[in-house]
Parts: sequence; C-alpha cells; structure tokens
Amino acid sequence: MHGEVPGLSEVDRAIRKALYPAPGRLGEIIGRILENRGKMLRPRLLLTCTALAGCGKNLRSNLLFDAAAAVELIHTASLIHDDIIDEAARRRNQETLHLRWGPGRAALVGDLLLARAFALLSRPGGSRKLLHLLARTVAHLCRGEIYQMEQRYRWELTEKQYYRINYYKTACFIASCCEAGGLLAGASAAFCRALRNYGLKLGQAFQIVDDILDYAGYPERLGKPVGNDLEQGRTTLPLIHLFETQKQYLKLVRMLPANTAPPRELQKMLREAVKKNGSLDYALAAARRKQAEAVAALQHLPEREERQALAQIAEELTRHFAGTLGGQPVDPEIKLS
Ligand code: FPP
Ligand code: MG
Repeated sequence: MHGEVPGLSEVDRAIRKALYPAPGRLGEIIGRILENRGKMLRPRLLLTCTALAGCGKNLRSNLLFDAAAAVELIHTASLIHDDIIDEAARRRNQETLHLRWGPGRAALVGDLLLARAFALLSRPGGSRKLLHLLARTVAHLCRGEIYQMEQRYRWELTEKQYYRINYYKTACFIASCCEAGGLLAGASAAFCRALRNYGLKLGQAFQIVDDILDYAGYPERLGKPVGNDLEQGRTTLPLIHLFETQKQYLKLVRMLPANTAPPRELQKMLREAVKKNGSLDYALAAARRKQAEAVAALQHLPEREERQALAQIAEELTRHFAGTLGGQPVDPEIKLS
C-alpha cells in the first residue's frame, strides 16, 4: 500500500496515548507491541473512507483518530488471542507474546487492548452507532473463530462453509472499518452501504490471499510460519479445491484417526499436490474475482482521489502473484497482518 494516508501519525499518537502509562512488565509487553506494528490497514481504510465520504471537508478530529486507533487496537488484540489459539510461534518476524510471556499474560494484554479500544470509542461525543457496529464486529470475530474451531479436521468442508468462516473472521471486520469511515463523516445510509460492500469484498479477497500464502509464501517475508493451516487441521480454499478435483487425497485424510493432523509426510504430499493441481491458481482466481467486485462496488461512490486509493488497496492484494502459481515459486512481498 503506497502513499501516506493523512492522519495516520495522529492515529499512532492516539494508540500510544491509549496504552500508556503501563508500569513494569506490562510496559515491557506494550513496548514490544508498539515496536512491532503491522501495516495499519484497518485505520488506513477508515481514514480513507471518511475522507471520501467527507468530499473534501476537513473532518480531522480527535474522534476520528480515536476511532482509527480503536480499530487497530481491536485488530492487535484479535491477533494476540489468535496466536494463543493457534499455538503460533511467530508473528511479524518475532516470537509471539504468549511464547515470550505466557498465554495467561498474553490473553490479558489482548483483553486490555480491547478494553482500551472501547474506552476510546465511548468517549463523550463519540458515535453510539459506531460503538454498536464495532461491538457487533468483535462478536462476529469471536463467532468466526469458534466456528473455525468446530470445523477443525473436517476435511469435507464446503466452499459455503469456508466463506462463512472467511466472512466472520476477516471480511466483516474490514467491512466495518470502511463503514465506520462513512459513519464518522455523517454519510448517508446508501453511501455507508457501498463502503461496507467494498470492504466485504476486499476482506474476502484478503483472507483468500492469506490462505494461499500459507501454502506458497515465504516465512521471512510473511513474518510467520507457513503450512500452519494443514498442521492445525484447517481446510481452506486451496485444499477444498484439491479434495474436490482429486478424490484420492480426500480418501487419504479420511483414513486418519479423528481429530488429528496429517503426519508430516502427508502434509508435504498435500502441499505439493495443492500446487501441482492448480488449486492455488483456483484460489487466486477466486481472490481476483472478489478484488474486482471490491473495485466495482466503488463505482457507486464519488470519483475522487480517495476512491482511487481504495481501488489501489484492492488491486495491490494480488499484484505480486504474476502469472500462475502452479508449481512456481511465489514472490509475495505482502505482509498481511
Ligand atoms: C487470524 O486468522 C485471526 C483473525 C482473523 C481473527 C481472530 C479473532 C479472534 C481470536 C477472536 C477474539 C477477538 C478479539 C478482538 C479479542 P489466521 O489464523 O487465519 O491468520 P494468521 O495466519 O495471521 O494467524
Ligand atoms: Mg492464526
């Protein structure tokens, strides 16, 4: 994502202010979180959507920066909790918080970030609609994670079920950040709906790309290990395609004892089959369709530079996947989290 989004440094300041003072061990953990930041996709989307909905009006305010800070805090909290659930060892090229400080402390720091986010959103003058939207969104994130847990080791997951998980755990949050941008600018319901629709499609594409990278990415670039999904017994779009088109692989995993991950050798075989079978290309085509739908959703919005910036965010998602993915090394420089 290129180009600085106006207001991002104020958002950064709001995040720091929300997290400090933090004494002792907590300060150490917060320091680590702050020095190890992501791309700030969600605050960028929120700020860009507000600017688009405001059509040139100067909407810079503490309420706006606090809201953008809140979505980043919610996102960070969700990743801390997700890493505990997934027993992940690395995130953003560093040891995960739960490995470094223990799962109990990590969970509590995640809770603290979440509480601080909602404290920012409920300041005097803040929007109740926005508060409600983001509270619902966090509930959706939790539902998505629980649903995903229930589907663990279910090798016959359908695309419909996959998209359900995708919606709850990722697309809905990204959509809410875009809608929040509209709400903060006082945009009409139709305008907010169009922003939400863009965000939904973008979020769906985003999660599909994340699932592709779990098979085809480079850990150093992604800042986290690859191959986690199979190891965790998670059936994502590339694997669904493999099992649907090459039933012999489905037969192999069906023979596994219930609730167990495939042994390493079988994981390796499945990963290679996913690449050779064109299943990554299949998933990439699906991501590109969602990407195109995201850009199409923007047609209902005013033709301004912010709209162009939103289109670019969508287009960049798959820019690094030139040509096909089947058996080819992939060079994605994107860091999704
Ligand atoms: C990453 O998925 C995780 C999410 C998209 C959502 C996580 C949400 C929760 C744990 C619910 C609790 C939420 C809050 C706000 C406390 P992934 O595991 O597919 O991606 P990864 O490879 O980056 O880990
Ligand atoms: Mg995870």
